[in-house]
Amino acid sequence: MSRRKPLYEGKAKILYEGPEPGTLIQYFKDDATAFNNQKKGTIRSKGVLNSRISAYIMERLNDIGVPTHYIRSLNMREQLVREVEIIPLEVIIRNIAAGSICKRLGLKDGEPMPKPLIEFCYKDDALGDPLVGEDHVLVFGWADVIELEEIKMQALRINDFLSGLFAGINIRLVDFKVEFGRAVEDGQYRILLADEISPDSCRLWDIDTGDVMDKDRFRKDMGKVEEAYQEVARRLGVLPSDQEMEAHEGTIVDIESRKGGSK
Ligand code: TMP
Repeated sequence: MSRRKPLYEGKAKILYEGPEPGTLIQYFKDDATAFNNQKKGTIRSKGVLNSRISAYIMERLNDIGVPTHYIRSLNMREQLVREVEIIPLEVIIRNIAAGSICKRLGLKDGEPMPKPLIEFCYKDDALGDPLVGEDHVLVFGWADVIELEEIKMQALRINDFLSGLFAGINIRLVDFKVEFGRAVEDGQYRILLADEISPDSCRLWDIDTGDVMDKDRFRKDMGKVEEAYQEVARRLGVLPSDQEMEAHEGTIVDIESRKGGSK
């Protein structure tokens, strides 16, 4: 097994050099953090479940013509993706009030938004990813006016599509966070959906029971975190079988040794 060079290690993923120029390998870890790294833990099999769930969602988005960085899955935890220049924004789309907006604006948890709300946070851990306005994005040059319009349009399109996809499996898409990047295509910059879409980056509530099926279970110490992620994967039809998990466990030693220099 060849040793690959880790280019970047984040809280939940590692990016390695890809096999060809312009590609990367995105490795999904079981590590979980909350409150800007103040709370740390691991969720068993999270990397496998998130890789599966995110791959499925990215494939469906590719099907409807939303450009994404996703190329294909390489194994249970790794995806081949296009290398992009990440736009330093967390783009949050909210359908129902929950989480930080309740505190910030005094909204009631569970209150529907009059219409989907898009918020931007500047990606900077040291600053705690502060909320910013569109003018900050343009004035500081994080994206230009055309890119910003494209990002908002794609974010709403993703929201419409995913709201329907999740409603079909009895899950309410409360809110979610996406990231975009730019890549050169035919000599021009193009905006691509990057990163991941998974229960780490979405709020997902069971429509009938209101059960929380996302990372809030970890953030709020609600228990049954792995089970919730598994249930999302099961309803999407991508839950790995026991045999697949066992076979995967046998490859972990290889993957761990490949991490090489990274901690
Ligand atoms: P918030 O209510 O804490 O601002 O979170 C809004 C959405 O963004 C929620 O679905 C969780 C997701 N999110 C991330 O993916 N990463 C983060 O670092 C934070 C703070 C939120």
